[in-house]
Amino acid sequence: RRILLINGPNLNLLGTREPSVYGSETLADVVRIAKANGEKLGVIVEDYQSNHEGGIIDRIHRAKKDGVKGIIINPGAYTHTSVAIRDALLGTDIPFIEVHISNVHAREPFRHHSYFSDKAVATIVGLGIKGYEYALDFVATSPKFA
Ligand code: DQA
Repeated sequence: RRILLINGPNLNLLGTREPSVYGSETLADVVRIAKANGEKLGVIVEDYQSNHEGGIIDRIHRAKKDGVKGIIINPGAYTHTSVAIRDALLGTDIPFIEVHISNVHAREPFRHHSYFSDKAVATIVGLGIKGYEYALDFVATSPKFA
């Protein structure tokens, strides 16, 4: 089974970006851990990061063609703005888990609303990069993503 890990804008800066909020691990660390855990769990983890809304949408469309069974997505700031990425997920009907490294609910009010949470199988916030690991564990073992 193929699982897609998507990280949105500014997440390429993980490790150096506001480390007090997002920690010191890099996106490369996140991807390395995800691929290693994927191997243990018997799934293939593909990864994609983009700072561009359209790139993320195109990648979701491709995932549908490729038969990807589940998406783990941290949409970054697009969480709070992007009807278009929401529609790509709904339009392809690929089940997804939404992950946020920080606890968005403990931050500025504009981060409290997500265009994804009501359609996500689950949302994980505030667990640092561990959130991606918990999400992958669930996606790899739950029949919801079979
Ligand atoms: C984030 C939270 C968003 O509000 C922010 O714009 C990000 C990262 C998180 O992982 O905590 O870029 O999605």
